[in-house]
Amino acid sequence: MSQTEPTSTLQEDAGTTLPHGAAARRGPFRAGERVQLTDERGRMNTITLTPGTAYHTHKGFLNHDSLIGQAEGSMVENNVGQLYQALRPLLSDFVLSMPRGAAVVYPKDAGQIITMADIYPGARVVEAGVGSGALSISLLRAVGDSGYLHSFERREEFADIARGNVETIFGGPHPAWRISLGSFQDEVVAQEAPGSVDRVVLDMLAPWECLDAVATVLAPGGVWINYVATVTQLSRTAEAIRADGRFTEPDAWESMVRGWHLEGLAVRPDHRMVAHTGFLMVTRRLADGVTGLNLKKKAKAEFTEEDLSAWTPEAVGERAVSDRKLRRAARDAASTVQTRGTKSKITDAETGGGAPGH
Ligand SMILES: C[S@@+](CC[C@H](N)C(=O)[O-])C[C@H]1O[C@@H](n2cnc3c(N)ncnc32)[C@H](O)[C@@H]1O
Repeated sequence: MSQTEPTSTLQEDAGTTLPHGAAARRGPFRAGERVQLTDERGRMNTITLTPGTAYHTHKGFLNHDSLIGQAEGSMVENNVGQLYQALRPLLSDFVLSMPRGAAVVYPKDAGQIITMADIYPGARVVEAGVGSGALSISLLRAVGDSGYLHSFERREEFADIARGNVETIFGGPHPAWRISLGSFQDEVVAQEAPGSVDRVVLDMLAPWECLDAVATVLAPGGVWINYVATVTQLSRTAEAIRADGRFTEPDAWESMVRGWHLEGLAVRPDHRMVAHTGFLMVTRRLADGVTGLNLKKKAKAEFTEEDLSAWTPEAVGERAVSDRKLRRAARDAASTVQTRGTKSKITDAETGGGAPGH
């Protein structure tokens, strides 16, 4: 055995040395975990391994028991010889296929957020809204077990979906996570001490409404990143930040990721791509009482109070999600995590005020 090979068993790792959820991503396939099957035409399907059941397609069936105990990356055959490649889904696969109510932050943007907002192990981060929990999962991975992520969500159904997704990917509740119901701008100042937060991450319709709350809880030098879908939201948030004066000049950008087709001499960009997801904007909290640079650029905000009534989810192109669809997604998220044997509920303490343990 080489020096770098782990010497402990998976069980020992789970209880002691490895960060939360890591042990479950190693070793042979186990009952209850999700496995991504890719057929010979590249079609993918994710199944949850359940002893005694089978994965059926129009080309036969594959017994789940034939996968349990196999090494990750195995090739398995169904009853008529159809071949499948079996791998654990990566976070990017999981996020695009998990139950959802609201639009999720795509992996390309989650990567940008983690890097450009400088989310580090041990950081104290607050986030809103939670939506389906896609970004929460990336943030939890980045802050790690010793960090702190407090996520705020207005709608209970979304919070339930997010909790199910987070618990599915980490195999149970994450020690660094708490989720609170309510509007970010009201709850964060009630629950977090002034100047105690290192990073603020907002993915919501109207981040400018949270400006005062962000300025209150963010530590001097702390980073505030916003993810918005439209240029009108981007512009309004930037002008509000400039006019406020407690932050540095905001920087904005978008990222476009184009996949490539790789086959023999036919090496070229894919014909299709996800052309637009959202815009990112980052700014940092100045120390109290100082005047920032770029004041000469300070523009007069051109938004009036009447504008506020125009900012609705429909006006910025968000699809309305029916209550029925939300209830179904919440049930799906809960049943996925129950298959893995864990489930927790949002407690009263998490839905109301009260200072958190720092
Ligand atoms: C686009 S979704 C967030 C998606 C999420 N980041 C993800 O990756 O799955 C926006 C969410 O923000 C919530 N929201 C909007 N304004 C809010 C506010 N002021 N406080 C808390 N949540 C809010 C909405 O209910 C919705 O669930």
